[in-house]
Amino acid sequence: MENTLILLKPDCVQRRLIGRIISRFEDKALTIVAMKMIQVTPELAKQHYAEHVEKPFYPALEEFITGAPVVAMVLEGLDAIRVVREMLGKTSGLQADPGTIRGDFSSSRQMNLVHASDGAEAAAREIDLYFDTSDLCRYTPALTPWFRAGDE
Ligand code: PPS
Repeated sequence: MENTLILLKPDCVQRRLIGRIISRFEDKALTIVAMKMIQVTPELAKQHYAEHVEKPFYPALEEFITGAPVVAMVLEGLDAIRVVREMLGKTSGLQADPGTIRGDFSSSRQMNLVHASDGAEAAAREIDLYFDTSDLCRYTPALTPWFRAGDE
């Protein structure tokens, strides 16, 4: 089982797509183990996007990510980090394949609706940025036996 950090970004919130995007994760049998709406501060943005802070696009990215609330979530599932990244599609909505979330809903590199951790190290770091360990609700979804076989 893996955990991954998801942000439904300000464009997702403003476009009232929260419910439709969450449904796609639920349909895929991913389990929400933590969720909250928050306003990202410039300080949190710099921590979250630490590897991009020096890049030319960072000032616009910070303005965007702090421009309206986001919904932060921790999703749990088998291979969740890879599965969610593939569900999102390429960074730019213009290049993301149809059928992916960005391919279906975004035409932008910046306003690409959803952030997801890109590896195990990033997931651990990002989950820590947004949640305390006590925020994570561990439970066995009742539908688990109908989502996968016992040896999967
Ligand atoms: S890159 O090009 O490898 O650094 O891109 P990537 O690691 O996939 O994602 C970078 C995040 O910054 C956001 N962003 C941009 N990326 C590239 N170019 C421009 N101009 C740009 N503007 C914003 C992009 O949406 C990625 O955000 P996340 O939240 O990680 O999806």
